[in-house]
Amino acid sequence: MTLDSPPSAGLHQRILDNLSHAVLMFDSMLELVFINPAGEMLFAISTRRLLGQSADEILPADSPLLAALRRGLQSGHAITEHEVQLSLPGQHKLTADCTVTPLRTRPDDSGLLVELRPLDHQRRVAREEQQIARQQTFRTLVRGLAHEIKNPLGGLRGAAQLLERELPAADLKEYTAIIIGEADRLRNLVDHLLGPNTIACKESLNIHRVLEHVRQLVSTELPPGIRIRTDYDPSIPHVTGDRDQLIQAVLNVVRNAVQALGDEGEITLRTRARRQFTIGSRQHRLVCQACIIDNGPGIPEELVENIFFPMVSGRADGTGLGLSIAQSLLNQHDGLITCKSRPGHTQFCLLLPLEAASPSAEKTTAPEERNQA
Ligand SMILES: Nc1ncnc2c1ncn2[C@@H]1O[C@H](COP(=O)(O)OP(=O)(O)OP(=O)(O)O)[C@@H](O)[C@H]1O
Ligand SMILES: [Mg+2]
Repeated sequence: MTLDSPPSAGLHQRILDNLSHAVLMFDSMLELVFINPAGEMLFAISTRRLLGQSADEILPADSPLLAALRRGLQSGHAITEHEVQLSLPGQHKLTADCTVTPLRTRPDDSGLLVELRPLDHQRRVAREEQQIARQQTFRTLVRGLAHEIKNPLGGLRGAAQLLERELPAADLKEYTAIIIGEADRLRNLVDHLLGPNTIACKESLNIHRVLEHVRQLVSTELPPGIRIRTDYDPSIPHVTGDRDQLIQAVLNVVRNAVQALGDEGEITLRTRARRQFTIGSRQHRLVCQACIIDNGPGIPEELVENIFFPMVSGRADGTGLGLSIAQSLLNQHDGLITCKSRPGHTQFCLLLPLEAASPSAEKTTAPEERNQA
């Protein structure tokens, strides 16, 4: 488009449709006359039901947004309110920056343009981005260190074997056996630190097959008091991923849940499709969310911020690598694992982008989900 060709109405519509912030338009009677898809998602009600409703019907009587609308109408000036607490219908509370701009819609009528920028979402995305960067830096550091340890370790082990052959007395071999045994133990640990070294072989696959495979694997080792429940959304489109790597990631998370539960409890495997979901700094139209939820004691408070870092463990016999490896595998799929925990409810969610999803599958997803992982 050039400067002398003004944008068409179609382009305006597309811009509004693709904005990640909610845009609403009320007329002078405070009736809703326009809402963009981001707004529809925020309110979790379809445009059809929202249009024509008055602001009093949509918002609670004490809503600061309602007060801002009335002030905007009376004063004729634009109003910006920062960090406003909003209770939206069908939704939990949310914090947002709001701007209300009086706008002449017709020569004889004016209305109010409302922009809502949810901060909870922005804060969550910023925090996640920061965490991913920190975890990746730390993993690179540990991998570098592991590499450096691995080389001399090979030399050490080889020398101990040569020495063993030359030793005159059999009882002295006890010492070389210790060197070799400990070198092997260290090598095992270093291999774990380096993580999976197979090249990802990505294919289109059903996430439920991955979850069911893990469920079967784990079922054989479950104590009788632990039950695994499934709550799947069968309409989720296929993800693109390496089956073995995804199995590994899910297995690491499910095994942790089993270990945390001890003798009894319940694990739920839940899948959902999420629309307009941000992973790291990238917004995706559709994302596959696979959650592993347990009703165990929860993650110790002092660990919760750092569990995805290598060698962070709350278990006496844990190496602290399971979640770090799982996170790294998901990152290799442009995905992410998130975690929320309180006593009685620990939830790990594996998020995978579904870029090539079919439109029919998208329609089956309710519009209420805007990053409520
Ligand atoms: N579902 C859960 N409930 C409670 N704590 C958990 C849960 N999942 C993970 N944790 C905590 O996070 C820690 C880190 O987990 P991670 O899988 O990375 O290492 P690990 O299980 O200790 O060792 P391993 O390398 O053998 O997996 C665990 O030791 C545990 O304290
Ligand atoms: Mg583990």
